[in-house]
Formats: sequence, C-alpha cells, structure tokens
Amino acid sequence: MHNSQFIIAYSFLLFTLMFASCDSGDIVETVTTNDSNGRAVKLSATLSGMSDLSDKYTLALATFKANDNYALTLYSMPATTTDGTEVSIVAPNIDSDVSTVELAVTNRLRQRVISLASINMDDYASATDTIRMNAGAIDVSMFSIIQHNVFNASCIQCHGAGGGNGAAGLNLTEGQALANLTDVPSTRKEGMFRVVSGNDSQSLLHQILAEGGEDILHYNHTEVLSSHFKNDVAAVRTFIDDWINRLKIEK
Ligand code: HEC
Repeated sequence: MHNSQFIIAYSFLLFTLMFASCDSGDIVETVTTNDSNGRAVKLSATLSGMSDLSDKYTLALATFKANDNYALTLYSMPATTTDGTEVSIVAPNIDSDVSTVELAVTNRLRQRVISLASINMDDYASATDTIRMNAGAIDVSMFSIIQHNVFNASCIQCHGAGGGNGAAGLNLTEGQALANLTDVPSTRKEGMFRVVSGNDSQSLLHQILAEGGEDILHYNHTEVLSSHFKNDVAAVRTFIDDWINRLKIEK
C-alpha cells in the first residue's frame, strides 16, 4: 500500500470509530466545529402547533442544573414559527454545572413544565465540540403535549392501551382521549364531567390530579402524576388546567 493510501484508509477508520463511539442515543450525534470555546448544544426540530401554545408558556432550548427545575439559560423558539418549519437553535458556552439540556415547555418563571427532549451532559463530559440534538417532528399544541407526555407516559396503561376503553370506560390513547374527556359525564361521580370545557375546577380530571384529590376515586390519581413528574408536578397540573380553561375559547 502506498503511504498516502494508507493515511487515507487510516483516517477513514479513525473517523468511523469516532462516530461509532459517539453514537450514544437515537437523537444525539456529535459533530466537530472549530469555533466553540465551551460545550454547545445545537437542537433541530420540525415544529407545528406553536400558535396553540398559550402565551403563558415558552418553548425553549434550556439548560438545567441537577435537581433544579428553573432554567439556568433559556433560548426561546419564536412564537410565530409556522407549522412544519424546521428550526435550529444553539445553546452556547454551557456551564460545567449544567446537568441536562432540554427542549422544554417553560413558564414565565423560567420553570420547566414539561421536557420534550433531553440530553444528559455527563454523557459529553469531554466534548469540546457542538453536541447535536435532533428532536424530529414535534406538535407543541397544548393537547398534543399532554397526550404525548402525560397520557401516553402515565395513564394509558390503565386507560385504553390494553385494548377496550380501559378503567372506568375512559380511553386516553391517542386519537381517543379528547373525545373521551371533553364534556363527557363521569362514569364514577354522578353529576360530574370528566372535563368541563373552560372550567378546570369543575372538571373531575383536575380534581383527581390536584393535591387533596387522592381519595375522590378508588384509585389515587394524584400519586400517578406526582410520581412521574416529581418536582415539576405543580407546573404540569397548571398546564393541564390552562388547557381545560382554553377549551371554550377554541370552540
Ligand atoms: C393503575 C391504573 C390507572 C392509572 C395509571 C390511571 N388510572 Fe385513571 N382510573 C383508574 C381506575 C381504576 C379508575 C376508576 C376509579 C373508581 O372506580 O373510583 C380511573 C378513573 C379515572 C377517571 C374518571 C373517569 C370517569 O368516568 O369518572 C379519570 C378522569 C382518570 N382515571 C384519568 C386518569 C389520568 C389522566 C391518568 C394519568 C395521569 C390515569 N387516570 C391513570 C385507573 C388508573
């Protein structure tokens, strides 16, 4: 083998190994850049539903310290992003004490409400390159966020994923949940509705997830939510309430 051929082959091998070893997850890859001083994360996503997100909320690329649900730095997606637009946004010079970088819905206090995609910076401890995060296509309308991050994550195992409608005849799977909730009478609490459009406090959904709602039904739903969302649970409850309260306006 000529020397130059050897160098090319060897570089190719190194290159392949480098990418193979950095491939630590579905949505993450690293690319080399020469212009970043510290660690940086570049997120790309194709967004829809931005106009449905209440102006109380921001969709942002945000950095968080461990056990802190208030963002250290926050880079917002423009609220005017039209459906189907591919956005890309960079969080530069990430502090060494940042634990996660997330595509998150945040409230006006810069508090995490729901994380839509996340990477753990510990996995990139020695990275000086830009870390790429591809979140794919995401519908950020309020109900879609609730469907994907609350119902699919914590509810459908009892409410519909096993076939049939599920517990209490309530199907919370995708495509079913909205029609199963909105202004539908409760099968468990006479005179109540699962969700009353525009009125969170009258809605059984709100009551069973709220603090103090533990004993309303024969199953403790408050616990379901708090065990999944931990420190973020209050913000998640408020987000669900805001979705209920906006239902009338959307009609
Ligand atoms: C481990 C199983 C389980 C999980 C998980 C669960 N549920 Fe339930 N759910 C039940 C059972 C059982 C009932 C009926 C309780 C009763 O008869 O008092 C119920 C009833 C309900 C009702 C009342 C329906 C009606 O017609 O009155 C709502 C609303 C509800 N669940 C929403 C949810 C939501 C939202 C989640 C996720 C945050 C969830 N559930 C997670 C088991 C579950």
